[in-house]
Amino acid sequence: LRTAVIIVAAGSGERLGQGIPKAQVILGSEPMLNHALRGVLATEVAEQICVVLPRGDTELRAQLAGFDAGTGVRITAVDGGSTRADSVRNALEVLAGIDVVLVHDAARALAPVEVFHRVLNALESGAKAVIPVIPVVDTIKVAVHSEEPGIAPEQVRSTPAREQLRAVQTPQGFELATLLKAHQASAMFTDAQAAAITDDAMLVESQGIPVYLVRGSELSLKITTPHDLLFAEALLEGPAA
Ligand code: CTP
Ligand code: MG
Repeated sequence: LRTAVIIVAAGSGERLGQGIPKAQVILGSEPMLNHALRGVLATEVAEQICVVLPRGDTELRAQLAGFDAGTGVRITAVDGGSTRADSVRNALEVLAGIDVVLVHDAARALAPVEVFHRVLNALESGAKAVIPVIPVVDTIKVAVHSEEPGIAPEQVRSTPAREQLRAVQTPQGFELATLLKAHQASAMFTDAQAAAITDDAMLVESQGIPVYLVRGSELSLKITTPHDLLFAEALLEGPAA
C-alpha cells in the first residue's frame, strides 16, 4: 500500500505553558517535532510525510530541510488550521497517489515503530480505519452539572464499565478515500460540533465505518502538561543505571 504519514504539529501548546508552539518545545536536546519525525522515518513505511506547522512558523520549517536531505522520503509542510481537524484537512489536500494515510500527533513524540507497523498491518488486512489503544487504569465517570451547586459543581451521571473502555492514541490509520470522505462530511459542522471532534476516527465512525483497534503503547503518551514533559524526559533517558 502506498502510504503517507501526516504529523500534526500546529498546536499552540497552551497547557504546556512555555509560550512557544508545543512542537518547538525541547525534549532531551531537540524540538519535540524532531523526535516525532525521526520516529516516523524509522518505521520506513511512508513514501510521503506531510508535517502541519503553526501558521507563520519559520524555525520548524528550517529543521525539516535537514531531514528531507538525508532520507529520500518526500517531506512537505503545510500551515495548520484553528482546530486539529482543520490541520488534518490541510494536509489531506496535498496528498497524491496514496492508498492509506497514518495521522500522528507530534505531541506523541516517543511513539514506538511497532505501533505504526501494527496499524499498517491491519490496513493491509483490509481495514478502512485502525486506531491504537491501551486499557484504561482509572475508573471513568460521566459528569453532569450538580443538583446542589452549593455542595459541588458536578455530580456523577454514570460509570461505564472499565473493561470496555480504551484510551486512544495515534498514529490512526485510514484508507485515504475513507478519511477524505469523513472530513468532507464534517465541513458543514457547527462550531460546537467541530469543537467536539478530538480525533479522526470519530469522523469515520459517524460514517458507519468499522474502526478496528490494535495495541498501542505506554510510550505513545501525548505530551500535554509540564508533568508529561518531565515523564517523557525520563523515558528518553531510560532506567537509571
Ligand atoms: N494540533 C494541530 N492543529 C491544531 C491543534 C492541534 O496540528 N489547531 C496538533 C498538535 O500540534 C498536537 C496534536 O494536534 O500534535 C494534539 O493536540 P494537543 O495535544 O491539544 O496540542 P496543542 O493544541 O498544541 O496543546 P494545547 O491544547 O495545550 O494548546
Ligand atoms: Mg489542543
